[in-house]
Amino acid sequence: MKWDSNTTLEKEDIQGLLVRGYSKLPYASYHLLRFNDLKDAKSYLHESITQVTKASTSPDDMAVHLAFTYDGLKYLSLPEITLQSFLRQFKEGMTEKHRSFVLGDEHANAPELWEWGGPNNPPVHALLMLYTKDKSTLEAVQSQHHTLFGHHHIEEVRMLATDTLPDLKEHFGFRDGVSQPYVGGFSNKQPGENEDILPPGEFVLGYKNWYGQYPDSPIMETESDADDLLPSYPNNLKVKDFGMNGSYLVFRQLSQDVYCFWKYMKEQAPAASHTQKEAVKLASKMVGRWPSGAPLVKAPHADDVQYANHNDFNYWKEDFNGLKCPIGAHIRRTNPRDSLLTEKTDLESKEMVLKHRILRRGRTYGTPLAESMKTDDLMNAEDDGKERGLHFICFVGDLIRQFEFIQNAWVKFHKFGGLYEDSDPLIGTHYQKDGHVTDTFTVPEEPVRKRYKNMPQFTAVKGGAYFFFPGIKALTYLSRP
Ligand code: HEM
Repeated sequence: MKWDSNTTLEKEDIQGLLVRGYSKLPYASYHLLRFNDLKDAKSYLHESITQVTKASTSPDDMAVHLAFTYDGLKYLSLPEITLQSFLRQFKEGMTEKHRSFVLGDEHANAPELWEWGGPNNPPVHALLMLYTKDKSTLEAVQSQHHTLFGHHHIEEVRMLATDTLPDLKEHFGFRDGVSQPYVGGFSNKQPGENEDILPPGEFVLGYKNWYGQYPDSPIMETESDADDLLPSYPNNLKVKDFGMNGSYLVFRQLSQDVYCFWKYMKEQAPAASHTQKEAVKLASKMVGRWPSGAPLVKAPHADDVQYANHNDFNYWKEDFNGLKCPIGAHIRRTNPRDSLLTEKTDLESKEMVLKHRILRRGRTYGTPLAESMKTDDLMNAEDDGKERGLHFICFVGDLIRQFEFIQNAWVKFHKFGGLYEDSDPLIGTHYQKDGHVTDTFTVPEEPVRKRYKNMPQFTAVKGGAYFFFPGIKALTYLSRP
């Protein structure tokens, strides 16, 4: 489906994080909040709302955002009919039992072990997200909000700090955030100019999605909107659209064992003078890109910085059997591009895969295992036992079709792409299936493939929740007494 290029996004009503990653604001912190008094909670929102950054501005110094869990919206006493009309996945929450199975949140990733968001942790009502240009601005705005929390009896359940690593790397040492879909109607690009421009309704409620339909959005009876703040529901003028210009935000704190990652790579590499080179090659096969970000499909033999930002590639014609980029590599699982339906055509695959895209906005946390972030240094570093990882954040218009589908059918599933006991080498949960544990990584090679077994789990889920990221008008509604 090509989106209508005349679609204009209501940028004044959209929170800016939906359309910008804030690369100019490298300092950030996330604050998980619990309300203790309805009137106070609303006053806090009322006082904070003027700071909330709109998509119509491109801030140079600071950005502020607010999102809410289902419990939080209930606490803020949204009408029952509105609460009921949110997506089922959001209402049930990330840790509902069946959902834990779907997402692979079992064993080492079980919500019972989480540090926040799990059944053994205090409830979370809201998420405050702060982004700034420097440390002192971050500290100032944090302190301003801590004062507000005190005044309004808001408990900070947890503050999640972030640390930006050099060269936009994640902790294993690979460039992250290269491949990202564009939100149609926001990007200057025209439909058809780039395959990755998706209809705005894939990420922002109130606009048409891939199916040419408006995504499900929470409704409100007209009489509940006494101040006439909210827009009418598309195709139904009798009710209001509480979700318009909002989105669903997925948050997962993923801890990374960098020492264990590189130890495994070294152990698997042949004991020769090229151990380090071979270790980097195996790790890159698992990611699907080299440390610089160069995709293996374009640079199959060695890292090549000229391809560091390269994202214009496919798999069908260039690497059907995965000889360059293994079928089970992280980027080939999370976005199989044109290579999914082996018995059909590359175009059908592309079209299907585009219905399962996510807009990633995560940031790393914790100090690096080796300051330089060079793979040789990471590989030679001692285990410092420190906590580090990724605050994975993404936006979707449909939780089950986008995030949950990727996590279940592509990241977790041990038979993905004709494999049979593999899961995503970076983030897949290892589980027992058909007498096998899903801890294998397969590298197609001629004449015979190589199978790396007994892989430890290099990441673990430490916390998580689904949030609703409202438009500015809906946020204003929530702040009204
Ligand atoms: C600690 C956890 C994770 C690490 C270290 C990690 C690392 C990476 C790296 C290095 C890339 C390549 C850079 C790029 O293409 O932008 C990448 C791409 C990607 N990752 Fe992750 N990732 C993690 C978690 C996740 C999760 C939880 C998901 C979603 C379920 C995910 C989805 C994606 C997607 C969709 C891409 C882009 C693939 C493409 O379009 O080619 N990642 N990740």
